[in-house]
Amino acid sequence: MEIDVFTLFPEWFQWFSTQRHVTNALAAGSRLKCVNIRDHTPLGAGQVDDTPFGGGAGMVLRVDVMEAALRARYGVDPIDLARTRRVIALAPAGRVLDEAYVAELAAEPALTLLCGRYEGFDERILEHFAGETLSIGRYVLSGGELPAMVLCDAVLRRLPGALGHERSAVEESFSEDLEGNPEYPHYTRPAEHRGWRVPEVLLSGHHERIRRWRLERSRERGAGA
Ligand SMILES: C[S@@+](CC[C@H](N)C(=O)[O-])C[C@H]1O[C@@H](n2cnc3c(N)ncnc32)[C@H](O)[C@@H]1O
Repeated sequence: MEIDVFTLFPEWFQWFSTQRHVTNALAAGSRLKCVNIRDHTPLGAGQVDDTPFGGGAGMVLRVDVMEAALRARYGVDPIDLARTRRVIALAPAGRVLDEAYVAELAAEPALTLLCGRYEGFDERILEHFAGETLSIGRYVLSGGELPAMVLCDAVLRRLPGALGHERSAVEESFSEDLEGNPEYPHYTRPAEHRGWRVPEVLLSGHHERIRRWRLERSRERGAGA
């Protein structure tokens, strides 16, 4: 999986790129590259945004600047990019990320993520360069960097080699193994704390009973959700 993130704040990803599951995914062949949009602006003084036509607060990311950054990275007209890779703009009003969407994106060979800032994107970026808009929830953050990291985290941890234990990403909340339900409860030592005892079945060593108990708890949580 190749992920390119177009951002005005590439330094935000320095910490993220050093996290274990991310370094594991990168060591296993994935790639995460940040492109600083400002490095490619054709405008003076590093300008990347401008005031909105029609008035109003805030600044809008310019379409010519985004085009220059995409052209510099891919060497093609960005209107043709969506044919070869998924170009996703982060936007609060986009398609809301869920496990099915993550699985869909994790199966792609390459993703391009566009992080907005300020008032967001000139609409022509969304109309002509991005094939889709993705939201991490119906609330507004200051920029697309955290949403991009949320997406990268969710996608990369699904890739082979990212997690220490391969089953970790298979049998967890919303997975097929759990019929799309939330995960069952976990317990660890001590077996009793302040009189709160771990369910006996988990101490029984009886794998089939434990499997059934977990599936039942998971179904209960799904029914209550
Ligand atoms: C302050 S927001 C712009 C909000 C925009 N004016 C609106 O009302 O929808 C700046 C940027 O942060 C990103 N962003 C903020 N909240 C987000 C969310 N919930 N999901 C995805 N991206 C988000 C987007 O890239 C957006 O362009």
